[in-house]
Amino acid sequence: MGLVSGAAFAEFGHEVIIMDIDREKIEKLERGIVPIHEPGLERLLNKNTDRISYTTNMEEAVREAWVHFICVWTPPDLDGSADLSAVRAVARELGKQFAKLKVKTPIVVTKSTVPVGTGKMIQRMVRQSFKDECKIVSNPEFLRESQAVADMMRPDRIVIGSNDEEAAQTVADIYQGVKAPVVMTDLATAEMIKYAANAFLATKISFINEVANICELTGADVDKVAEGIGTDPRIGKAFLKAGMGYGGSCFPKDVRALHQFSNAEGYAFKLLKSVIEVNEQQRQMIVDKVNKHLKILNGKNILVLGLAFKAHTDDVRESGSIDIIGRLQSQGANISAYDPLALLNAKKVLNDLVIMVRDAHEGALGADAIIIATEWPEFKELEWAKIKTIMRKPLIIDGRNLLDPVAMRERGFVYEGVGR
Ligand code: UGA
Repeated sequence: MGLVSGAAFAEFGHEVIIMDIDREKIEKLERGIVPIHEPGLERLLNKNTDRISYTTNMEEAVREAWVHFICVWTPPDLDGSADLSAVRAVARELGKQFAKLKVKTPIVVTKSTVPVGTGKMIQRMVRQSFKDECKIVSNPEFLRESQAVADMMRPDRIVIGSNDEEAAQTVADIYQGVKAPVVMTDLATAEMIKYAANAFLATKISFINEVANICELTGADVDKVAEGIGTDPRIGKAFLKAGMGYGGSCFPKDVRALHQFSNAEGYAFKLLKSVIEVNEQQRQMIVDKVNKHLKILNGKNILVLGLAFKAHTDDVRESGSIDIIGRLQSQGANISAYDPLALLNAKKVLNDLVIMVRDAHEGALGADAIIIATEWPEFKELEWAKIKTIMRKPLIIDGRNLLDPVAMRERGFVYEGVGR
């Protein structure tokens, strides 16, 4: 988020200093190596090298800048709440540097997803060392992994929240030239917009997953239901793809955090509790389908196709695939796995018992089942007829509704999707 935002701000014509405490990352960036997989990012950074500099030194970053964007991670704490220790550390350090360098009216902007009230907390932390005026703005990001550059350059909207109009306008000016509606509001509202957006999208996914489960019992087709309801502009087509539930570094954490901080405020957000439960259930249902066909999993060979939490990324954080692998292993299944991009990251979180294969064919040899866990388009193009001949049992559990059920059954597979 920080890197994409920085690259975009430079593209908008601003001088940008990118600061990180991770020396290795900064050194790589200085050498022109982009440490994350994000289409279009390398090109954008290369195009703007004369306006971007990198540092691990906070004093250097603060001295040169006027508007300071906080783009650190807010991982989930044990109780589901957002862990704000990185935000706090940055705010405290900013305060110290502002005081040391006698900075004039700095503006601190949160891009990180932070619970309502964090902006005010940042102000308090800065004030511990810096007694002069410091303005706080919330400018939440709505970037999707693998489409972050496009989302940043052509956003649906720009949300800017502050209790100080001038500071809000300064941040709005940074985006000058970007064609998007700007929602100007107060600090608390902007912080809430981010959570409400992610929670609503997650709700849509859990909703369609429950519809899928009823479709399965009644013989209806969830993909057609999604098409049928999605054409109503009040509903919209997006985020109605049934599957194994949502994953990634944002939805699971943000839904839990909104649920948790609602509770902390004395409000039980009942709908979100169900959204979380349905998501959990959806993953177990994939395992149940394998159980239904194979009965005992002990000693059975299962190939999992896809490890990333969604296609076109190498990110495996909160990936449904990784979760399901653990559930299958706990029943004694032998797992082999393949992903076009995420093998390296998956290796770091999976145990040694999972055999990483170089392609789907290698993993299909002697397999009792194949699970499609990430919707990589290339899985559609596999030589399925050939794969069937090398499997021990021709069972496909398609957790992403990627393949055509009729075509797969015609090829002789036992095929199960989600709600089809
Ligand atoms: C999400 C939001 O879409 C962004 O707008 C937001 O800025 C970002 O979180 C964030 O808070 O930083 P991202 O986590 O990259 O972006 O992934 P999504 O594309 O939203 O997908 C999330 C999960 O939902 C994935 O596991 C995906 O497979 C699943 N999904 C998505 C479905 O199961 N069905 C759908 O119809 C759509």
